[in-house]
Formats: sequence, structure tokens, C-alpha cells
Amino acid sequence: MNAPMSTPITSPDVYARTGVPETGLRNYWYPVLAGWRLGKKPRAVKILNEDIVLFRDAGKIHALQDRCPHRGAQLSQGSCMYPGSGTLTCPYHGWTFSGESGNCVAKLMEGPEAVIAPGTGVKTYPVKEHLGVIWLFVGDMEAVPLSDDQPECLAKDAEWHGFSTWRTYHCNWRVLKDNLCHDLHAPFLHRNAPELILQPVFPHAVQLAAEPTADGRGIGYKARGGINKADYPGLGQFPPARESWYRRLKPTGRGKDIDPTKSPAVVKYGYLHRQSSLLPGITLIGRPSGNYFMCRWVVPIDEKTTLFYTFSRYRRQGAVSTMLQKLQWIFWLSWTHDWLFSDQDKRVLEKVKTQRETLSRTDAGVSAWRRFVADHARRPPSARETGQDAAHRAAAE
Ligand code: FES
Ligand SMILES: [Fe+2]
Repeated sequence: MNAPMSTPITSPDVYARTGVPETGLRNYWYPVLAGWRLGKKPRAVKILNEDIVLFRDAGKIHALQDRCPHRGAQLSQGSCMYPGSGTLTCPYHGWTFSGESGNCVAKLMEGPEAVIAPGTGVKTYPVKEHLGVIWLFVGDMEAVPLSDDQPECLAKDAEWHGFSTWRTYHCNWRVLKDNLCHDLHAPFLHRNAPELILQPVFPHAVQLAAEPTADGRGIGYKARGGINKADYPGLGQFPPARESWYRRLKPTGRGKDIDPTKSPAVVKYGYLHRQSSLLPGITLIGRPSGNYFMCRWVVPIDEKTTLFYTFSRYRRQGAVSTMLQKLQWIFWLSWTHDWLFSDQDKRVLEKVKTQRETLSRTDAGVSAWRRFVADHARRPPSARETGQDAAHRAAAE
């Protein structure tokens, strides 16, 4: 794909023209809460601007719209008053709802004979617990299998292990996802991150190409060439010499023109891209070995708030390496990356103003992602398609 030329954009909100919706892509699964955080009490979550209550009863998790149809109380303030029945009772006048169907099954203040009009109830949401995380499908169609929306390193639990962390960002999800589109902020913004402090600055001025992934779920990035330092006339060197004396480690090969088809990840596992953006807001960043992926999932909460889930995933290669990977994550990566490194982004992103932007060469990956979302985000089947399905089924029966 061609890199965009420097183009000033002056629409009221730069996203208005991209077709990437403000409150997220519907009809996908999203991680919303660590499973251990849902105990006996119901819990309110918000995702894609929808208020949802989660509750656990008799070992099963349910998800309902968090608003009582009677007089609008929050069901998350209620309780599972009849354990084992799979119901949730509103805190205000005791209307009680089935977690399975969402139907109102009792109006406790009107007696067992109370008339309950058909259709009285709340919306239900498909919900699952996987990898110790609660996942919700929010949309306007039947839920797809959860594994359809997860990269392999999350879906295939038996082959991978790992950890997850989450943080709340006070910015729109699009700002956070754009940040993860190989936009070359890392060699600058993160150049002094403790995680990378002894290494040469990431290569910049690379040739970046963005292309659809083979599975059609997103776009993969290929970066070639690049420099680790340079002189700027009238200014001096980047990175400045005063920041360079501690960069003691040798370059690790990043930035060299390596034949990607010879990397172990491609030869052994067929992963062509070390970094990719997948629908509905996933960034996958891998190591050349193909044995580690950081999967970062941007979860829209509302227009101004985003949940950022990070999954560090290691291919299972025996008990010893699993133990070493766990130690490395607990004592190093969890705080140097998920906390300190990410904080450098968070500080900037929460202040970004989206009224105007001037795209440049480094934004090729951002533009490609925005185009991909506008063209390929999942949509519910149209009435015509559904009608055709029904006709096929009827013909087959
Ligand atoms: S508002 Fe929920 S029972 Fe009245
Ligand atoms: Fe970053």
C-alpha cells in the first residue's frame, strides 16, 4: 500500500471521515473482566456504550442489560436472591429476571399471581469465561464462536500459556488502536523506557508496508531497512549523544534487511508478520521465533474511555521453559512493559486532540488500518441473506 503524502485534514473530528465508529465495532467478542473479579455480587460493566450486568449463579455466568424495565433501576445493585435459580432480582421493587432468557419471572411486590406481560424482560448477552477472563459478544446478530474472534495464541489454550493485565485509558478507543499500528512512535516515545534502556533505539525511517493477513482478519506490517541514529543538520544527532552512552547492547538484527521467509516464525509456524492489527481492535506483536506473542486488545467502553487488555502468550515448550517464562513475566515484563512502557503511551494518548491531523509517512499503517475497518468490519447478515438461509433450510428439510 502506498504511504500517504503529508495531507492536512481539517474536518471537525478526524475520525468522522474514516468510517471507524466512535463507540467500537459491534458483532465481536471482547474481553471485559478477569473472572476472579466476579464473585457472589453482580457486577456492572460497560462496553460499546452498553451498560451490562454480569452475575454468577450455580457456576454459570450470565450477562443482562443493566437497566430494569420497570422504573429503570440498575440491576447490578440487585442480588441473586434465589441462588441456584439463575435469576437476578432488581434492588428497587424486586422484579426478578432469568439470566438465561432475560424474561421477568416474578414481581415480588405483586404476589405470585402477578400478571407479567409477554416480552417483559431485558436483553441478554452471550458470555463466556476463557483464559480466566470473561468475554462478551455485543452486537445485533447471533454470536459467532469465541475462537473465531481470537488469534490462535488465545484460542488454543492447550498449546499456549500466559498472563493478562488490563488498564483503563481515558481516551477514545480509536486513538489507542491507531497508536498500535506500527506508526513509529516507539523508537521515539519509548526510547528511554526501562525495558529497552540498554539497547540501541529501535530502527526508524524504515520502509513500512501494510497488507491484508492471509486469514482476512486484519492487516500485517512489514518493516524493512531503517537506521538507529542519524545527524540532523543544525540540530545534532538523534538519539542525542547524552542519551546514548548507556546503550551498551549490540543491535539484535532489528532493522536489517532480513529475508522474512527465512525467519523461524515463518519456516516453523508460517507467521509472516511480526506485527499485525486484527478486527475488532487487536494488535499482535510477536518475536522472530514465533514462540511468543503479545496480544493487545482495545475494548471500547464509551466515547472517552477504553479498556486495554494485554495478553502475554508463550508457546508451551516443556515445564522448565514454562517456569522460566513465568518468572520472566512476573519479575520483568509485567512491570517494565505492561506498566512503565505502556504508561508512556497513556500519558500522551489521554491528551490527544482529534480535531485535526496531518498524516505523514509514518502513518501508512494507521491509514491502512482505518481503511480495513471501514471495508471489512463484520456486519449482521442482511434480511435478504437471512431469507436465503431460511429458504435453503426449508428446501433441505
Ligand atoms: S425498578 Fe426494578 S423492580 Fe422497580
Ligand atoms: Fe507505545
